[in-house]
Amino acid sequence: MRLSDEELASFDELGYVFLPERFTAAEVAVLREHAHAIFAMQREEVVREKDQTTARTAFAAHTYDEAYRRLGRHPRLIEPVMQLLGGPVYMHQFKINAKAAFNGDVWQWHQDYGTWARDDLMPEPRAMNIALFLEDVTEFNGALMFIPRSHQGGTLEAGHDLQTTSYPLWTIDNATITRLVEAGGLVSPKGPAGSVILFHGNLVHGSPSNMSPFDRTIVYLSLCHVDNHIRQFKRPAWIAHRDFTPIEALADDCLADLAPAHA
Ligand code: SIN
Ligand code: MN
Repeated sequence: MRLSDEELASFDELGYVFLPERFTAAEVAVLREHAHAIFAMQREEVVREKDQTTARTAFAAHTYDEAYRRLGRHPRLIEPVMQLLGGPVYMHQFKINAKAAFNGDVWQWHQDYGTWARDDLMPEPRAMNIALFLEDVTEFNGALMFIPRSHQGGTLEAGHDLQTTSYPLWTIDNATITRLVEAGGLVSPKGPAGSVILFHGNLVHGSPSNMSPFDRTIVYLSLCHVDNHIRQFKRPAWIAHRDFTPIEALADDCLADLAPAHA
């Protein structure tokens, strides 16, 4: 899957591009089933919400689940990122965010590259996210919010928030968010399961809690140009990976004939 010139220009200008319905219902169904089996596992990679029960995020599933091993090499995800970053990429981080019905908590305003730079000493923002919706994302179930053009201001001041949620994050203060929103506005990409979003490592984003009865599972591949690999190994290897091998994409039909998940 290659991005068109219009999509490339839109990414440069706004910091993201939304690609509706790039994965089929059958592909998404098997990934969703595997995600829920992973959320039910008791392992350190599955981080819980503050209630200590609801899954918040599952890290590194590409290292212990066959469906996600394949998704981590899927050409519809790897190729557009290689196109945008201009060369081979490795997996810096891989996570499945649950944002569960009723209990899925907020993700505070942040830039991902802010964390990658501060915690992992990633040299430059030559890394980005590509996200895949496993459920429909609506105005009700905790959709992502982006501040368009906020990637253009570089890496912003941030404070390490260890209180608000169960997961520590380098977050951006309200005055800065107000200034950025006055300049760039707000968008909230929503759409059916199977939709994909690419967004720049410096794009400011967050998401509110999910008080609806609908889950909102999204998978994030955080991919980095191999030359730009992290220099500090402070965080666990299942959060900030240390395997800088270039990813070789599999065939486009690589999610066909997957075995069912074992809960
Ligand atoms: C993130 O920004 O890392 C997660 C946001 C979300 O899944 O809502
Ligand atoms: Mn983020």
